[in-house]
Amino acid sequence: MEVTPISPVLGGIVRGVDLSVPLDEATSSELRDAWHRHGVLFFRNQKMTDDQQLDAASVFGAPEEFRFSPPVRDDLPLVHVIHEDGARRGAGVAIWHSDATWMARPPIGTMLRAMRLPPGGGDTCFSHAGAAHDDLSAPLRTLVDCLTAVHEGGPHLARSAAMVGVEVPERPISHPVVRTHPATGRKCLFVNRLFTTRINELAEEESRAVLGLLCDQLRAPDFQIRWQWRPGDVVLWDNRCLQHYAVQDYRSARTMHRVTLAGEPVR
Ligand code: SIN
Repeated sequence: MEVTPISPVLGGIVRGVDLSVPLDEATSSELRDAWHRHGVLFFRNQKMTDDQQLDAASVFGAPEEFRFSPPVRDDLPLVHVIHEDGARRGAGVAIWHSDATWMARPPIGTMLRAMRLPPGGGDTCFSHAGAAHDDLSAPLRTLVDCLTAVHEGGPHLARSAAMVGVEVPERPISHPVVRTHPATGRKCLFVNRLFTTRINELAEEESRAVLGLLCDQLRAPDFQIRWQWRPGDVVLWDNRCLQHYAVQDYRSARTMHRVTLAGEPVR
């Protein structure tokens, strides 16, 4: 196996691994280490079934059902379809976020497999929330390290829930504004514009300003990479230390099959 870094900050392209066959323990452990080191791994030219995708994702964590996206098959509830018809901008998730932070235990990771791609566009961008945190000035880091913020599903979750006909959970959840990655010990910003609504310990105006500043921090190109999908691509990202942004510049169908990995309390 060979892992080529995409940037000094995040992203690794893995060569020499066929995800469609069961991986031995040594390879699995090497892949998990690479995932922790790079935050997001990219595999090209993978030919696999949905069941094999589920097995491959299981190497990195415990797949869990995500009730707000339809399953690929009734008998395979842990693999979901993510589909955009490209008809209108704003229908997808062209907002920096990590997945489902409105959950008490947001998924630690997400594996996406390209099924149908537009002829151009539909890239996914990734930003490293640890690098974004480290780049803050020391006094600001001291401030944000002891704050907590509220996360709610909002309109995005309401839209997904309506599509599959399930109820939206109503209780907002609070998480630390900065979380520590359990495998690397790295401190990472954990607020986003899609789901984070306010910082608990600050006055409303202050909350708005600090939240805006932190979310903007993740938009710096210095902490980012951009992935141009090709047929056969499989991408696995770590929601604990990265945020992502699905670029909505296409006007035809884009379909991915997704597995999410069960979360842990945010600390
Ligand atoms: C997501 O934002 O969870 C999906 C990313 C993508 O479709 O590229």
